[in-house]
Amino acid sequence: MTKKTSVLFVCLGNICRSPTAEAVFRHKALEAGLDIDIDSVGTHGYHIGSPPDKRSRATGEQRGYSFDGLKCRRLDDEDFVKFDYILAMDSSNYDNLLKLCEDDEAKHKIRYFLDFAQGDEKEVPDPYYGGKQGFELVLDLIEKASDGLIKHLQSQST
Ligand code: 4NP
Repeated sequence: MTKKTSVLFVCLGNICRSPTAEAVFRHKALEAGLDIDIDSVGTHGYHIGSPPDKRSRATGEQRGYSFDGLKCRRLDDEDFVKFDYILAMDSSNYDNLLKLCEDDEAKHKIRYFLDFAQGDEKEVPDPYYGGKQGFELVLDLIEKASDGLIKHLQSQST
């Protein structure tokens, strides 16, 4: 039996951007009929065990995404073994991931999530200290990159 493709979304706190990416990508993968293991983590452990930020949740739920059951988890060494795609939201997450990954063979799995959006932006900006507009922008970028990632995975399986 072949192993399911697996995708891990990574941000700093795992309460705003990466759980939003998890919720959106779960929804879109299901709609596309793709069976993928999906999870999200933070590079830091400020909020371990907490549900996603209320502002992220409200913004995402308005667009029809479910955040039920999501809880903050911190990245661990096993994640570099388990996941096929390890997708950073910004350059700080990306640099941290490369530093924390001790297996040179696994480093190719680490990429920017917005590589799949094929737009001009490289990073999903941290919305934590800003206003509602920041959370809407996070969702716009994540929806676009999720659509691109779905297309990429579909092209890999044909
Ligand atoms: P996230 O946002 O990385 O998108 O989950 C943040 C969450 C918490 C903090 C910073 C960013 N914090 O400093 O606690």
